[in-house]
Amino acid sequence: MPELKKLVAMTSKKKKRQKPRWFVPAGLEPTEMDLKIMEWEAKGKLVPTPSLIKTPEQIEGIRKAGVLNTAVLDAVAEKIREGMTTAEIDRIVYDYTTKHGGIPAPLNFEGFPNSCCTSINDVVCHGIPSEDDILEEGDIINVDCTTILDGYYADASRMFIIGKTTPERQKLVDVAWECLKIGEQVCSEPYVFVGDLGNAIAKHAHQNGFSVVRDLCGHGVGLAFHEEPDVEHYGKKGSGMLLVPGMTFTIEPMINGGDWYVCGDEEDETEWIVLTEDGADSAQWEHTYLMTENGVEVLTH
Ligand code: MF3
Ligand code: CO
Ligand code: CO
Repeated sequence: MPELKKLVAMTSKKKKRQKPRWFVPAGLEPTEMDLKIMEWEAKGKLVPTPSLIKTPEQIEGIRKAGVLNTAVLDAVAEKIREGMTTAEIDRIVYDYTTKHGGIPAPLNFEGFPNSCCTSINDVVCHGIPSEDDILEEGDIINVDCTTILDGYYADASRMFIIGKTTPERQKLVDVAWECLKIGEQVCSEPYVFVGDLGNAIAKHAHQNGFSVVRDLCGHGVGLAFHEEPDVEHYGKKGSGMLLVPGMTFTIEPMINGGDWYVCGDEEDETEWIVLTEDGADSAQWEHTYLMTENGVEVLTH
């Protein structure tokens, strides 16, 4: 029975029908935003799901978490100095956050032992605060804080230069900042793609002789620590997710002075610490953003 055989073969090979990610609730007229998103999805682009669009109440909550997150980093900025240990930075973050009703998100997150990440020089990210790590003149350090307030998350990090550093390190810190700002500028209107900002960021890093870390990315944030989408800081224009009003996400380019490859630290039992593979320096800045009809608004300044 050749017919039947054919039918069986077709059944086993057939593709699954994919449910659209975006949909309009039954009985509602599609808005202009719905139509735009559905048009992009029909063209095969990655679009958000409705669950990634925050309600005004959620946005208020994330905004408040952002205000506390900024104050935490300001408290670090006020005290950070040569001779201080990264454990002291961690205590400032823990004390300030909890005194103001917040929770430091990193603490006990998937085995992370502290309240913030402190990443010095060739540490790309997820550096672990320690009594043994003493800040020295010329060090460049990223302090990354994520703050939970009333269940809402905001995530930001800054670079600090200890005393006077070398021109090379200064340039790396400056270019990493410019990369964040360039990502932000690409998002000065909605309906851009993550790949658009990644492409612009990588171009700027490369023009300055630096590389962009590929193994780690920015992310949706707000109701959880890490949500969709992945925000890669390199890539092709038009790739990645469409960014639409109501989405909250981070941009956090990690820029390396040498090559983009990263690795772990042999002695790190937590397996959190990320280093540059070639031992060159790395710098990073991060903010949490809200996409609006008029482009992104910073929630963590
Ligand atoms: N704050 C980091 C980020 O920007 C994540 C740190 S996870 C931790 O996404 F557990 F190390 F805190
Ligand atoms: Co962060
Ligand atoms: Co982040």
